[in-house]
Amino acid sequence: MADKHVVRFEPVGIEIEVGEDQAVLRAAAEQGLMLMHGCKEGQCASCKSFVLDGDDIELDRYSTFALPDYEKEEGYTLLCRAHVYEDVTIELLNFDEEMIRSGLPIVNAVAEVVANDPVTHDLRHLVLRLAEPKELTFFPGQYVDIAVPGAEATRSFSMANTSSRDGGRLEFVIKVYPDGLFSHFLDTRVAVGDRLSLTGPFGVFTLREGHGEDLLFVGGGAGMAPILALLRSMAERGVQRRATYYYGARRRRDLCFEQELRALEKTLPGFRYVPALSEEDWDGEVGLITDVVRRHEHDLRNTHAYLCGPPPMVEAAMPLLTALGVPQKHIYFDKFTTTG
Ligand SMILES: Cc1cc2nc3c(=O)[nH]c(=O)nc-3n(C[C@H](O)[C@H](O)[C@H](O)COP(=O)(O)OP(=O)(O)OC[C@H]3O[C@@H](n4cnc5c(N)ncnc54)[C@H](O)[C@@H]3O)c2cc1C
Ligand code: FES
Repeated sequence: MADKHVVRFEPVGIEIEVGEDQAVLRAAAEQGLMLMHGCKEGQCASCKSFVLDGDDIELDRYSTFALPDYEKEEGYTLLCRAHVYEDVTIELLNFDEEMIRSGLPIVNAVAEVVANDPVTHDLRHLVLRLAEPKELTFFPGQYVDIAVPGAEATRSFSMANTSSRDGGRLEFVIKVYPDGLFSHFLDTRVAVGDRLSLTGPFGVFTLREGHGEDLLFVGGGAGMAPILALLRSMAERGVQRRATYYYGARRRRDLCFEQELRALEKTLPGFRYVPALSEEDWDGEVGLITDVVRRHEHDLRNTHAYLCGPPPMVEAAMPLLTALGVPQKHIYFDKFTTTG
């Protein structure tokens, strides 16, 4: 059994024990602590923290975009990659008191494929039914890691549904890359009745309660999945907040869940769905999704924003939303970073 050390998190004053064989983020999650994170693979920088005390920390492989060498030398670390070999104190730079103690247990599960259908030319709608255990509780907007059959690899996919009405069903929207390890396999090999192993839930892209602030969602590509989950949960709970969903696609053939989103405009009184195409003229919005947001929105000071999709879209939207007045701490995002 691996030696364990105490990790103290400031300014929240929480201590946990972490085995040398586990990354700090994973150990925290297993002990019910939901620290800020995204990719869990050293790519997105969401878990970046500062080491206040302790030197003996080693990092698994990570991207220097997420943690440049000069930051590492200054004392920053990535909790998803960090293994500690002595007691340490870590300052959480980015944390959410509402979320931190709301961690749900992480479960290893096996699920059966119920449907695997195209929703656009390159997006698939994968539906799983949990076999063992039969149910999984997750917050709308969270994701699971699905094991790639026959490879020692996992890929993260966000649930598009909620677990409140049927905790045994997991719905995903997955982009197919021609040479993608998992997505190509999904496209060509996965059939109804097949079994997949998964672990979760993970992720902090969940709806914060707030005090009636407006909501702004910006999504692109498969970023549809967790945003759909948030909207579906708002409909289930009758959330009345004013909300706008800007969804960026290239062409008409890339749009999906149109009927459901239009129906949500009727169910949710304050909700508006604004799709935009960047490569085709039509009778809707045209342009990059960030340009469309810029055209429509002028004062977002009383707004919580949720961004999800490819990293370049999320990175382009963040400074725009800050410039339009969304407080930094109320910009929530999931970057769909890739491993391949
Ligand atoms: C928190 C989180 C949640 C996620 N949720 C979802 C989700 O709900 N739906 C979803 O589809 N994905 C999601 N992703 C991304 C997903 O985990 C995989 O990274 C992605 O599906 C690619 O996996 P793959 O095995 O098919 O391709 P890989 O084998 O990882 O990639 C192989 C090759 O495919 C190409 N490729 C892969 N990704 C890209 C890209 N983004 N742009 C251009 N070329 C690329 C490249 O040529 C790459 O070398 C999420 C990622 C994170 C971190
Ligand atoms: S870099 Fe740690 S969660 Fe993405």
